[in-house]
Amino acid sequence: MITAVVYSESGGTYKTTMTANLAVALERMGQNTLVLDLDPQEGNLTSLFDAGEHRSDPDADNLVKHILDMPDGNFDDLIESTAEGVDIVPSHDMLGDFTSNLEQKISYETGMKNISRDEYPRFELLYDLLWEEQELHEEYDAVLIDPNARAEDLLYNAIFALRTLVAPVKPAGKGNLSLDGLEELVGNMERQLDIEIGLSCVVPSGVGQTNAHQQYQRQFENTAAFATPVTIGNRESLMDAMWEARGSAFKVVEERWKTFEKEGTMVSEPGRRRVREREIETLRNLYELARFIATETFDADVDPVLELDVRDKETRIIDLRPDEPTEVTTA
Ligand SMILES: Nc1ncnc2c1ncn2[C@@H]1O[C@H](COP(=O)(O)OP(=O)(O)O)[C@@H](O)[C@H]1O
Ligand SMILES: [Mg+2]
Repeated sequence: MITAVVYSESGGTYKTTMTANLAVALERMGQNTLVLDLDPQEGNLTSLFDAGEHRSDPDADNLVKHILDMPDGNFDDLIESTAEGVDIVPSHDMLGDFTSNLEQKISYETGMKNISRDEYPRFELLYDLLWEEQELHEEYDAVLIDPNARAEDLLYNAIFALRTLVAPVKPAGKGNLSLDGLEELVGNMERQLDIEIGLSCVVPSGVGQTNAHQQYQRQFENTAAFATPVTIGNRESLMDAMWEARGSAFKVVEERWKTFEKEGTMVSEPGRRRVREREIETLRNLYELARFIATETFDADVDPVLELDVRDKETRIIDLRPDEPTEVTTA
């Protein structure tokens, strides 16, 4: 079972983009993959995958009701399937009030049972739901979470349930290592929750060609403190197009989504994007990253061959095994 929380301390560090791309890569490797969107804000994984029709309806059943053990239906009915095969438990506005709802539940239950608030297992609720009640390991090979960035109950529940982190990091202003916060958080949580948390890898992302960025990348590659299997370049055009394609970067390239100006307005259409080698390279890196997590961190057996079926163009076969070059066959 592959489980990972895509974690970063700050917003805008490509968490949602990374979660979507990792999930699709794992799915394409033959892993039945579920993602949980714990971010109630706009521009989240749920909108990226075009899911969560009822996310603003307070009466609709949602993940929060299940975490708090007050469901309005079956958990299975919360799960939606997406066009690229990944399943998603979508976000809901109620995630924004998670802590206050949890506090009420704790007040009620500790009052009833006459136990102290401190003894209430407030960070174990998602774990109990996913593994003990729903036994998701029976159905899925991989579960990923795009958490709410703020270090509070939902994030702690996510980490307690999945135990492993993947950390995208963005070059900071001066290009220095900015992972102190991460190590401190992991250490604190391990002590507080009395569990072991694994950092699968760190993924420098949005790395450009400037000297500062290149130096930043080298700093990461040269550290023994954590694994950095790949670096994701500055790919704004590719990643931004995911929001138009409603899917992964793999989909953007295969369906050739492009945003351009047409009669004075910006439109996005498939079948228009040029095939760029650097973008193919980025897909290879994303696939490599998924393979690293699956095989190095979790010892899973995955398909090492990525087949890109580019619309109206050639099919690309990318074999991650050593000595297998990228192959191009004209369709
Ligand atoms: N490798 C990248 N290079 C440049 N821009 C990127 C990259 N990955 C993602 N982005 C863009 O950065 C923005 C923020 O990404 P997002 O994944 O929503 O961050 P977060 O979830 O951490 O807030 C999006 O517009 C996305 O398209
Ligand atoms: Mg996000």
